[in-house]
Amino acid sequence: MKGLILSGGKGTRLRPLTHTGAKQLVPVANKPILHYVIENMAKAGLQDLGVIISPETGESIKEEVGDGSRWGVELTYILQAEPGGLAHAVKTARGFLQDSPFVMYLGDNLIGSGINHLLDSFRQDALDALILLKEVENPSQFGIAEVDGQGRLVRLVEKPKEPPTNLALVGVYLFSPCIHQAIDKLSPSWRGELEITDAIQMLLDEGKRVGWQSLEGWWLDTGKKDDLLTANTMVLDSWGQREILGEVDAASQVSGRVSIGAGTQIINSKIRGPGAIGAHCLIKDSFVGPFTSIGDHSRVEGSVIEHSVLLSGVTVFQVDRLEDSLIGRYARVSRHNRHRSLQLLLGDDAVVEF
Ligand code: DAU
Repeated sequence: MKGLILSGGKGTRLRPLTHTGAKQLVPVANKPILHYVIENMAKAGLQDLGVIISPETGESIKEEVGDGSRWGVELTYILQAEPGGLAHAVKTARGFLQDSPFVMYLGDNLIGSGINHLLDSFRQDALDALILLKEVENPSQFGIAEVDGQGRLVRLVEKPKEPPTNLALVGVYLFSPCIHQAIDKLSPSWRGELEITDAIQMLLDEGKRVGWQSLEGWWLDTGKKDDLLTANTMVLDSWGQREILGEVDAASQVSGRVSIGAGTQIINSKIRGPGAIGAHCLIKDSFVGPFTSIGDHSRVEGSVIEHSVLLSGVTVFQVDRLEDSLIGRYARVSRHNRHRSLQLLLGDDAVVEF
């Protein structure tokens, strides 16, 4: 069984962060989403993984992820020249996949459970496709499934304006090589993409064996700011651990499951877990509340931060209260008492709410 990770696409919904980086590399609890994806596939025993990349962000993904040896897997990068849709990505990977069955995993999806049991069911039931479903509150933003009274899958539709159910397709799919024949027959959807949802519908129409399971536990599609903050909260809550490598002075208090990277200094501050603070940071005269992740080389002084994600190199200076915020690399948020007005230098697509 092979694995195919989809890390191409444009990531427009996470702009401005994704102007300069891939959305699959945005960190959750200080670790890129893509790392969780690879870890989960490696844990299921998948060792031969293809990674779809785009011309815009492919190099940064290669640099960050490497050859896969740290997870004991072998990665093959596959360039998709245009974001032509999930089924187009599979088509692009045909040479890598050959006639092997495979797990397709979207590089921006985080799930709270392992996938081993899916591989077992797929093999035992000799399926051509196995999909995962989960109820969502905003079904028009997902692929949606209809299941009949006997629990049989009857119809799949991509981002319907009037969703028949709220059962969304999660971004983990298992396929036999049959999927390639279905993809070869696809035409682009109204949004100009080759949709994997349509290819699975075609398998259903042809009477192929398509199974489904409901996903137990949490699932997050990290496409937007609030999703990313929620993902950060869920991951810190589920997997956060206490590990203090940096220095905490006598006037500071670190309570709960907090990780603090090497070279970081905590001075006269309170840190309350769960939380993650990277390496080589300075946290001084501040309070860092639960569900906050702070990237490497950041500096927080005289401030209160809660339920936020700061990427690397961020400075927060004399800010009374910063919450529910997502702050990109090397951004600086500071207050100078002498100014009563906001003085901003913001990049394209930035958002300021106060
Ligand atoms: O997250 C689950 C949803 O993922 C499903 O419910 C939908 O049925 C499915 O179509 C997909 O919808 P999204 O709109 O969320 O897909 P997105 O464009 O965000 O792409 C998902 C991942 O695949 C992301 O890591 C980028 C990558 N990708 C996307 C496209 C369109 C590629 O590698 N190549 C592509 O051409």
